[in-house]
Amino acid sequence: MRPNLSAEPRAAVLAGLGGYVPPTVVTNEMLAQRLNTTDEWISSRTGIRERHVAAPGQATSDLAVEAGTRALKSAAGNGTPPEADLVVVATTTPDHPLPGTAPAVAARLGLGNAAAFDIAAVCSGFVYALATASAAITAGLARQALVIGAETFSTILDPNDRTTVPIFGDGAGAVLLRAGRPDEAGALGRFDLGSDGDLAELIIVPAGGSRQRSTGQPAPVEDTYFAMQGRAVFVHAVNRMAQSARTVLDATGWTGPEVDWLVGHQANARILRAVADQLEVPTDRAVMNLDRVGNTSAASIPLAMADAAERFTPGDRLLLTAFGGGLTWGSATLTWPNLEI
Ligand code: UT7
Repeated sequence: MRPNLSAEPRAAVLAGLGGYVPPTVVTNEMLAQRLNTTDEWISSRTGIRERHVAAPGQATSDLAVEAGTRALKSAAGNGTPPEADLVVVATTTPDHPLPGTAPAVAARLGLGNAAAFDIAAVCSGFVYALATASAAITAGLARQALVIGAETFSTILDPNDRTTVPIFGDGAGAVLLRAGRPDEAGALGRFDLGSDGDLAELIIVPAGGSRQRSTGQPAPVEDTYFAMQGRAVFVHAVNRMAQSARTVLDATGWTGPEVDWLVGHQANARILRAVADQLEVPTDRAVMNLDRVGNTSAASIPLAMADAAERFTPGDRLLLTAFGGGLTWGSATLTWPNLEI
C-alpha cells in the first residue's frame, strides 16, 4: 500500500457494487420433501421462500470473485478505475483454515499485490469489513478498497437439520470504495461496531479449530456442523441491531423517520420488521430480499443493497445494520451515490 499524506478531510465513497448467487435454487417445497418441515412453517417464521446453493466443488472464493468482478465493472461503468490496493473478504466459510481467502480472490481479480485479508465476524462481517476498509482509506493507508462478503454456509450445515438448512443460503456481495470527500454522495458516514463474546455459544461450529484439535481426539460429526439457538438469538438480534443503528443515527444527526432505506442483515423478516418498528423506519423502507436468497451471512447486506439499488435515488439516506455470531453487531450510515450497477 502507498500512503497518501494529503491533509484534506477524507471519506470512503461507494464507487461500485455487485452481487452474485450461484444458479442452483432450493425452494421450501424441495426442502419439505426431505426434511420434517413445510413451506408454511419456513415462510411464516422466516419470510424465506427459496435460497441459492453452491454447486459441488464451488468454494467461497469462487462466489467472491464473481461478486468482486461485478463491483469492479460497476465502478468502471461509473467512472472509477477498477483497481484496489486493499481487498477485504468477510467470511466465516473460508476456502481453507489458512491461508486467508482474500489473497486468492485479489490474485484472481488481477489486483496484483494488493493488501488482502479476511474478517471473521459471521453475519456482521460485511459491516466490520466496510468499517475497516473505510478507516484504511480515511487514514491514507489505501486509495481504493474492494470489500466482499462471501459465504457458502451450505458447506457447514448438517444436511438433516431442519432448524438451520431452511434458513441459510450461499452468495456474495461486493463494493468498491474510493477516497473522496465526506460531503459527497456515496460517502460512508458513521460506524458502530460491538460484540459480546460471553454469548459465543449461541451461534457456533464447535469443532475444527484449536479448541477441539487441542484435545487430540477426532471431533464427533455433529460438532463439525453449524449450530444456533434460534429463539435466544432472535431477541439479541432485534435489540442489538436497533441499539447499534440508533447509535449511528444519533452520530450522523438523522432520525429513524428520515432514513430512506434500512438495509438490515437478512436473517428473518420478523426481525427486520421489529428493528424497523423500533427505529420508526416505515416497514416498506426496510429492504428485503431474503425471500429469494435466505440468510447469506456476511454476503447479506451487499446482496440486499445490490438487489434494491434500482429503487435508490442519489442522496437517499441509507442505514446499514447487522448482527451475527460472536456475538457481533455493527451499523453504518451512507448517502446513496449516482451509481449504475
Ligand atoms: O444470522 C445470524 C443471526 N441469526 C438470526 O438472527 C436468527 C434468529 N432466529 C430466528 O430467525 C428464529 O428463531 C428461527 C427462524 C431460527 C426459528 O424460529 P422460531 O419461531 O424462533 O422457532 P423456534 O426455534 O422457537 O421453534 C419453534 C418450533 C419448535 O418446536 P417445539 O419445540 O415448539 O415443538 C421447533 O422444533 O418449531 C420447530 N421447528 C420447525 N418446525 C418445522 C424448528 N425448525 C422447524 C422447521 N420446520 N424448519
